[in-house]
Amino acid sequence: QSYHVAVVGATGAVGQKMIQTLEEQNLPIDKISLLASKRSLGKKVSFNGEEVEIKEAIPEAFEGVDIALFSAGGSISKKLAPEAVKRGAVVVDNTSAYRMDPEVPLVVPEVNEKDIKEHNGIIANPNCSTIQMVAALEPIRKAFGINRVIVSTYQAVSGAGNAAVEELKEQSQALLNGDEVNAELLPVKSDEKHYPIAFNALPQIDVFQDNGYTFEEMKMINETKKIMHLNELPVSATCVRLPFFTSHAESVYVEVEQGGASVEKIKELFQNAPGIVLEDDPNTQTYPTPLSAEGKRDVFVGRIRQDMDQSNGFHLWVVSDNLLKGAAWNSVQIAQSIIENNWLKK
Ligand code: A2P
Repeated sequence: QSYHVAVVGATGAVGQKMIQTLEEQNLPIDKISLLASKRSLGKKVSFNGEEVEIKEAIPEAFEGVDIALFSAGGSISKKLAPEAVKRGAVVVDNTSAYRMDPEVPLVVPEVNEKDIKEHNGIIANPNCSTIQMVAALEPIRKAFGINRVIVSTYQAVSGAGNAAVEELKEQSQALLNGDEVNAELLPVKSDEKHYPIAFNALPQIDVFQDNGYTFEEMKMINETKKIMHLNELPVSATCVRLPFFTSHAESVYVEVEQGGASVEKIKELFQNAPGIVLEDDPNTQTYPTPLSAEGKRDVFVGRIRQDMDQSNGFHLWVVSDNLLKGAAWNSVQIAQSIIENNWLKK
């Protein structure tokens, strides 16, 4: 059997990686529809050696589509995902539009693959920072249970799209040339103030909520509980944007439930966990960095330490390519699981 796959947001930072990952994964795809805004009409993108023309994302474009991967912003997903489902497609949505909808599974295959089969047409791909964190927490949860999580993130600009990547380039060049620096996009395009990201750190990703946390921080908090099926798990997050292009890094503090956990045992868990690569040796200065993780599908973990005061507390450094495991690769994994398990229809 062969499938008709659509990519919505095909010209975007994540969409481009989706196309590349679909190609590399060699899924049984007999037709691909690459969709974006009117602005991209006529552009061509190569897929499996063929030039495919970008079409406008309109409801009729989903006629005959089996699986649609969405990454064109929440408002597009709200408008068009139901149109795709109406026409018989299963949607894997990379935006935050449906993630907390109780009818929509929120999936990281290494953690809760089986939730996919409960879908009603839409499956949500979690927030990029959340994906890599829960992938690293899951082996620890399975072995020891977890009681509490506190995370601080160090996030790449590509998480805010191609335009943010351009903004960082332009600002960096301007600064080095001694020219005036323009900030028009980050931290959040629609927000009132903008600050330079070049040679800076911005403790705001997405808009502020009434409780003083940003929406990105609340995504990490709420989505972690949903994916891990731990509704009562205490989770707290601080999310920070930094001036590099790719990969998110995280300092994760986790408290385990049962005794018996040690740094050595946790390292052993990571050595045997799917999708995780342990890179941890202070003697050889071995640890992952955003640059070393770029272009790779795995979640890299290093700097594992026991807390100085809390014997059941452990610190981890977790790094992954935000466009791959954080977005495109996780979405393609979900699509592959749907195909292999025959979960297209509920
Ligand atoms: P386009 O290139 O035609 O604007 P990024 O995350 O890198 O900013 O990319 C956003 C993606 O979402 C792009 O592929 C963009 O297409 C797409 N997109 C933005 N607005 C719309 C829209 N109104 N309809 C369809 N696709 C859209």
